Amino acid sequence: MKYENNLPQYNTNKKEQLSKEEQEEYEKIKETIIQQQINNKELKIIPQEINELINEKTSNTDKIINKLNDDLRGYGKIDVLLKDDNLEEIMIIGNNKPVYTYHRTKGMMITDIKLNENEIKQSINKIANYIQRKIDKQTPILDARLPDGSRVNATIPPITADGPTLTIRKFKKNQLTIFDLIRSNTFNTYLSAFLWVAIDGLNVRPSNTIIAGGTGSGKTTTLNTLSSFIPSNERIITIEDTLELQIPQEHLIRTETRPPNIENKGEINMDVLLKNTLRQRPDRIIIGEVRSNEAVTLFTALNTGHSGMGTLHANSTQETINRLLNPPMNVPQIMLNSLDFIIMQNRMYHPEKGPLRRITEVAEVVGIENNRVQLNKIFEYDFNTDKINYVAISSNALTQISKMKGISYKSLMNEIDQREKYLLKHSNNEKIDVYEAKKIINKYYHTSNF
Ligand SMILES: Nc1ncnc2c1ncn2[C@@H]1O[C@H](COP(=O)(O)OP(=O)(O)OP(=O)(O)O)[C@@H](O)[C@H]1O
Ligand SMILES: [Mg+2]
Repeated sequence: MKYENNLPQYNTNKKEQLSKEEQEEYEKIKETIIQQQINNKELKIIPQEINELINEKTSNTDKIINKLNDDLRGYGKIDVLLKDDNLEEIMIIGNNKPVYTYHRTKGMMITDIKLNENEIKQSINKIANYIQRKIDKQTPILDARLPDGSRVNATIPPITADGPTLTIRKFKKNQLTIFDLIRSNTFNTYLSAFLWVAIDGLNVRPSNTIIAGGTGSGKTTTLNTLSSFIPSNERIITIEDTLELQIPQEHLIRTETRPPNIENKGEINMDVLLKNTLRQRPDRIIIGEVRSNEAVTLFTALNTGHSGMGTLHANSTQETINRLLNPPMNVPQIMLNSLDFIIMQNRMYHPEKGPLRRITEVAEVVGIENNRVQLNKIFEYDFNTDKINYVAISSNALTQISKMKGISYKSLMNEIDQREKYLLKHSNNEKIDVYEAKKIINKYYHTSNF
């Protein structure tokens, strides 16, 4: 059966074809280079050397060099997609099927690229070789990171029915900063200022926070940007399945899980890493994505005075709680008291504005009553006005901060207002990286009383 779809088309500018002579020349040069570098793991393409190899009569050296680069170093036909920073995701779904891509402003698109089984396998094997792992019938799944930081998942039959698949979450060269997210309306300034105070905790009570949402809703990006509110004097340890986070902090240890080897040995999972982390005296533990039994270890740590942040896959605040309480996470209900905020994030598609990412709710865990975790809504998104509103009367976490700091609740709210003004003043800072954004945040403390 054929499916009709009306997705926008992503056309790759088909590469200029090589002429017959150029093609012959290209084959010869490729052979020579492979012979020369047969023992080198990394093939180097040095234009001068190629120039020497090229027959002077052939005109277009650049064309040949480009093709060599793509063939020897790249990942095949999808290279052109990998180079486009406007694309978030590249999706190969099987043999001879169109490759899909998710565009930053246009959403899901269908490309004019199709790959046969061999071409997909070649791309996957290149990735597997690079990270020295195997993908075969016994281990038909590969999770990896490309040299540029992009995240990759590959599968081969029998677990995918229509051939090998490859999903690439491209690493954004310029990571979004809190100022970008304010400008694009993912956050507003008041919400950012509120979370700033909650997360830095005025050095007395940092809030523990989980960012929850659906696939690709922007959870990891939000976690990244909110981490710039962590005071610079803290020791941060991050735990991830594949390194993605970019935490702008000098004193930082980044850890990454290790899958089992070919003999099914040597696995180091999140829980093992987290337990080890607790022997390293972290001030702040950041877990890329909480998904399994490490949740209990995390909550044990939070209950014994550590501070933490992380993301979790769930579609509502209640679902977040349910996922934490049930297998495979199995966090004892009483432990959820140590969680302060659940930040819900959503990706929506707006017919005119394209894909929108919004914080749709911030809820505070206020306690456990009648055997249920009680939540208090602090911020709520209004779909009609596309605004996120402060809907709480007060916040427990802020009350605690004001008590421990010995200041009134009102002066704490004033501090949020001050920080909001500061963020607003700087929100037109475009094209700065997360490190520069952090510097701006740090500068605030020179003038603040806190
Ligand atoms: N607020 C935002 N505005 C615009 N683009 C965003 C925003 N947040 C994230 N993105 C982009 O969306 C893509 C997915 O973001 P991210 O990895 O943060 O999502 P995620 O929810 O963590 O995904 P996953 O469910 O796979 O873990 C990235 O390319 C990122 O650059
Ligand atoms: Mg993520």
